[in-house]
Formats: sequence, C-alpha cells, structure tokens
Amino acid sequence: MKDNQDMLTAAWRLLEKAVVSHGGNPVGTVAALDAGQTALNYDQVFVRDFFVSAVAFLLNDRFEIVRNFLLVTADLQSIDKSMDCFKAGRGLMPASFKTIEKQGESRFVADFGEQAIGRVTPVDSSLWWLLLLRFYLVFSGDREFVVQEKIQKTVKAILDLYLVGHFELIPTLLVPDGAFMIDRRMGMYGHPLDVEVLFYAGLRASREILAIHASEENSRYIGEIDHRTGHLLYHLRTYYWLDKGRLDTIFNYETEEFGADTTNKYNLYATSIPDWAPAWVGGNEGYFAGNIGPGRMDFRFMTLGNLLAVMTSLADDDQTEKLLNLLENQWDTLAAKMPIKACFPALEGRDWHIITGADPKNSPWSYHNGGSWPFLLWLIAAVTVSTDKQFLAKRALDTAATKLLTTDWPEYFDGRDGSQVGKEARRLQVWTIAGYIAAQTLMENPEKAALLSFDSEPGGAACPLKV
Ligand code: GLC
Repeated sequence: MKDNQDMLTAAWRLLEKAVVSHGGNPVGTVAALDAGQTALNYDQVFVRDFFVSAVAFLLNDRFEIVRNFLLVTADLQSIDKSMDCFKAGRGLMPASFKTIEKQGESRFVADFGEQAIGRVTPVDSSLWWLLLLRFYLVFSGDREFVVQEKIQKTVKAILDLYLVGHFELIPTLLVPDGAFMIDRRMGMYGHPLDVEVLFYAGLRASREILAIHASEENSRYIGEIDHRTGHLLYHLRTYYWLDKGRLDTIFNYETEEFGADTTNKYNLYATSIPDWAPAWVGGNEGYFAGNIGPGRMDFRFMTLGNLLAVMTSLADDDQTEKLLNLLENQWDTLAAKMPIKACFPALEGRDWHIITGADPKNSPWSYHNGGSWPFLLWLIAAVTVSTDKQFLAKRALDTAATKLLTTDWPEYFDGRDGSQVGKEARRLQVWTIAGYIAAQTLMENPEKAALLSFDSEPGGAACPLKV
C-alpha cells in the first residue's frame, strides 16, 4: 500500500496533466484523461467538475487557474446561446467548454445544454460559479478581482435570471430533470434539493461579493437577495427536513385540507413514506428530503445537497448534528466499499422503467441511480474534519485511497455496496482525483475547512416566521 504522500503526488501529477490552457494561461481542467473510451464531452472543462479541481487548487494556494476560469466563464456567460434559434437567459453559464484552433487562433466553444445528451440544461453551473467566486475571494483575499466590472456584472446577470418572478408562491427554483450533477432523467424535476441548496449558497456568495462594492444598484440587489435568502432558508429547513418528529407528523397528517391554516400544505400521504425511512431517522438523526411538491415528498437521500446544507449552514445546529449522525449510522449503506452514493435508494423495477425512461446507464445501483461517486470525498472532509466526526473523513479516505489508485481513479462505482468499478465509468476522472486531493489536504489542514463554510446567520436576512 502506498502511503498518503505518494498517493497525493500521483494525484497531483494527473491533475496537472488535466489542465487546459488558452494563450499559455491555465483556464480549467478536462473532465477525464481517459484515452480508452470515446471522449464524448469528457475532454471538455465542465463547470461543476472544475469546481472540485478549484477547491483542490485553492486549498493549496494555487489561485491563477481559478481566477482565469472565472473570467473565461464570465465571458462565455454573456454570449447569446440558443437551440433551434430560441435563446436562453443571459445569466446561464455553460455546462462545459473547450478550446479549439481556428485560423491559427485558440477559441472557446461552450455547451449550454444545446449539445448535451438529452439536451439537459445546467441550472447548477452559474451557482457553482458564484460559490467558487466567493471561495476565490476568501482564499486569495483578492478584492480587486471581484470588484472589477466584468465580475460584478456577471454576478448581477446571474441574479437577474435566478431571481426572476415565477408562477409559484414558493422561494425555491423550479427546475427540469437533469439540471445538475445528475444530468439524466431521474425524477429530479421540480425542486431538487441539490439545486436548491446550491441556490442558497449562490445567493449568500453573491451577497458577500456585492457588499464589498458599495453602490445604490448593489444595495438594491442585496435587498432582493436578503428577501429571497430568508424565505428560502425557512422553506428548506421547514418543509424538506425529516427527522423522527417530522416523520411522525407526516404519518399522522390530515389530508385533503383546503384553506390558509392547513398543516399538511403539500397534501402528503403517510402511505408514501418508504419502509426504510423510519429506521433512518428513528433516533437522533435527520436529513433533508430530495424534493417537495404537490402530493410529493421524494424521500431519496441526496448526498450533495445534504452535505452542502451543512457546509453552508443552511442546516441549523440541530439539523447539522442529526445529519452527521445519519452519515455515521448509515455509513455502510451509503459508503461501504466506496464513498459515497450520490443518491439513495436506487429506483428499481417499474419505477426505474418509468422514471428514468428505462435508461440502461442508470440501471439500479449504477451511475447516478445508487452508484458511488468518490469526487464527493472533498465534501465529506469539508463538513467533518473540524468536528467530532472527523473519523468519517479518515474512514472515507482509507476506504477510497488505495482502491482509487489501483483502479485508475474511476468516475463512479456500481453495486449496492459500491464495490464494482462503474460499468461505463471513465478512468482518470479528474474530479475523482481532485476530490481526493482536496479531502487529503483538508485532513492535513482541518483549519482550512472554515474557509469553505458560511456563518450560521444569512447576511442581513431574518428568517421569516411565516411563508
Ligand atoms: C457526467 C456526470 C456529470 C459530470 C460529467 C462530466 O455527465 O453526470 O455530473 O459533470 O459527467 O464529468
């Protein structure tokens, strides 16, 4: 078995190899270095994948590549993007981009979903960008960069798109299926936790960015952010949260209520509670449900959204404690042979057939549908290293480390226990490599986790007592 330092050195070598340059400057990292499979779009710089590389770079004081990436994507965001001549909103960021040589010049080509498999739209990209901008500021202290006009304008273009009025009387974003890391049909349409938590993180990040550049316009945006953040926080903490008390409440809900003072606002039926859920939250545990809508609570556990909720203090202290307890108690279910499932449980049988459209790549316990994703190692480390659950980060790294090296850093693992390299997994997957580097760096420097987190009070906004 290699020791940690050898592993880290090997990982860094690969991460460096993955760097994409433009005009001699590093601007991102490709999604995978795998030469054995058709590239599809894995030779591109994905915004969400680069985020993980960026965390690894920032934790190691490598600011230049992150700064360049933020500028390049800010430029890409402002171009017109269309499919069948129909244009998307300005603040949309691409899912991915690459550089091509044209007439002796290197140019960027981006995909906003108009080329993606299934034409999925990357609702998460702009939100990752905002969060990354905030991390860049915190780690580098480079205020000059964030107050420049291009950056300030990009933040506001994103806010214009994400804060626009919509049909519903709720503060969450209504998004289609496949709009984030799970970029295929998986029954995530509606108000998926992963995107909503990211929305919260993006709002808090933009508030910090706009606040350091005082202007009347910025104050107006900050007012809007505070308004939305407070409602969003209340909504997610109240309606998505599941613990023993909340499950009992749902179990005993009246249904078919009409009027302003109903308790079962979403008309949930107790019979929709899956049989595994009561045991998950039977003691001092809890988690945020995957989705909420009319007559629908998606009880699936979404790892990214839940861990991000802890990191951003969307989860209050009690919720954080219960969530970390759940992570510990369900470790064998979620992370047994490889940390960690993106989503639990898998859709099986007729559910799989109907909800995924019989997608063979997302067959039960594979890929997004119950597969295990080691890139999430960084997030496990970020939320545990400075707590009394630090042993979970160590356990995750011990489980993953040697296996990742001997299997060539796969994109994902399959099987109920995550023991098989994913059926169609790319090797030398860059966010797997970066996720490991970031987690290992955090283990060695637990104090750095504070730089990735947010204070518990959302800037300036009081949590409303009523929605
Ligand atoms: C897959 C993943 C997506 C990721 C992309 C590049 O499509 O589902 O989340 O961004 O690969 O790694």
